[in-house]
Amino acid sequence: MKREDVLISPAEMGRQRDFTQRLRQRSEGLGRRPLAMVDTFGCQQNVADSQRIMGMLRDMGYGFTEDPGAADVIVINTCAIRENAEKRVYGLLGRLTHAKAASPEQVICLCGCMAQQQAVADRVRSSYRHVDLVFGPQALWKFPELLWEVYTRRRRVFSIEDEHGAIAEGMPVVRESRVKAWVSIMYGCNNFCSYCIVPYVRGRERSRDPQAILEEVRQLVEEGYKDITLLGQNVNSYGRDLEIGMDFADLLTAINEIPGDYYIRFMTSHPKDATDKLFDTMARCSHVAKQLHLPVQSGNDRVLQAMNRRYTREKYLGQVAYARSVMPELVLTSDIIIGFPGETEAEAMDTVSLIEQVRYDALFTFIYSPRPGTPAAALPDPAGRAEKQLWFDRLLEAQNRISAEIHQGYVGKTVRVLVDAESGDARWPLQSRTEGGRLVHLAGPKEAVGQFVQAKVLDSNTWALFGEIVPSEN
Ligand code: SAH
Ligand code: SF4
Ligand code: F3S
Repeated sequence: MKREDVLISPAEMGRQRDFTQRLRQRSEGLGRRPLAMVDTFGCQQNVADSQRIMGMLRDMGYGFTEDPGAADVIVINTCAIRENAEKRVYGLLGRLTHAKAASPEQVICLCGCMAQQQAVADRVRSSYRHVDLVFGPQALWKFPELLWEVYTRRRRVFSIEDEHGAIAEGMPVVRESRVKAWVSIMYGCNNFCSYCIVPYVRGRERSRDPQAILEEVRQLVEEGYKDITLLGQNVNSYGRDLEIGMDFADLLTAINEIPGDYYIRFMTSHPKDATDKLFDTMARCSHVAKQLHLPVQSGNDRVLQAMNRRYTREKYLGQVAYARSVMPELVLTSDIIIGFPGETEAEAMDTVSLIEQVRYDALFTFIYSPRPGTPAAALPDPAGRAEKQLWFDRLLEAQNRISAEIHQGYVGKTVRVLVDAESGDARWPLQSRTEGGRLVHLAGPKEAVGQFVQAKVLDSNTWALFGEIVPSEN
């Protein structure tokens, strides 16, 4: 794809702002402030996209509500990664028939990764007739125009045709925290892991211009944000499509120059593209948190190959060893899939032995869910659900023990944490994170929210640490 075809032109973005203005005039003409509800499923990329949708809605004059009965516009931003995620959305759509029947003027929008699938769009078209607007992630920037069409043409609108996707700069945003922010650095995925739907619904890999990313991060730091996460399905392939000789490590180096008191995190890193240069850069850059999410998926080479992951157990273990050699304090997490089609018990136990060997701080674990249209969904899958569940339970048991042991090692230590929110819990009224991203439930005054503080760790369990704020040494 040529760069000029990927970037949405400033003129086109201006056109979208015109639709936003028209919708704003419509809102102002109502004589009351219209309300919107945005419900988000799925990963941080979807959370970031929803913040853009909310930005557009705010500029159109909408306030926000969590009550579907009170909403003039409902936006459901969906995830297609596993069958369960889709089922929950269909359940919600079913329940919304009542809200819509009570107020027929209500506009219901379905967007995100599920919406980009033709089969889902067809099912919504025929069976969920109360849904007015369906658009995929690639059409996000066109939301003002699409909503305008729903209001003026009074017909259902479907926009899922752009498979490859574009890059739109300058969309408004409503960030939900004053401390933490998401910054997408690239969109799409080219990896086609055999089990995964993402490349089919998020289009091809495309990197934002480094200047646009640097500007966004600089502004966030100036506004006081202290915990900034760079997002991409595989950040390690950042820059390949730009052809300016800049890779992800170079981008981190450039961001690290921005002065201020903040951490940069990123996700996700694909092991096939994680380089020593990346680990050296992380080690060197003081703003880059020593935290790495490096999904391994499986500890067995045959399964890794069938998954089309393009690395071996040995290569992965070598990367972990190198990363830890340059960052001894590194907090390491991973994603695991148990029960890939054809996986045997012995192969699943190779994954358990890998996690015993690596000793991750925490894991995100999933039982394989067939995604229609992916190569893995066509493979024979002889192991039953109950058997897979047993393997899964063994994995969890091992990881829970490891996480508890690692967390126990923090007790008695004093660590620097960023307080990101109040918690509502009387004993531990604050929520905070270590540099490595571990959750610390904290005792301390609510004025600490948004600050870096020293915390003495008093207790721990499998999932979190517990501590109290102590005066800093200097
Ligand atoms: N781009 C990221 C992952 C995004 S999806 C990466 O490659 O690391 C998040 C996780 O969901 C994946 O890492 C995988 O563990 C899991 N996942 C993806 N497809 C799945 C499926 N069909 N069934 C079960 N888990 C799946
Ligand atoms: Fe899916 Fe693989 Fe792409 Fe991650 S890298 S989004 S698992 S295809
Ligand atoms: Fe789900 Fe789409 Fe993210 S499928 S995990 S919301 S990229």
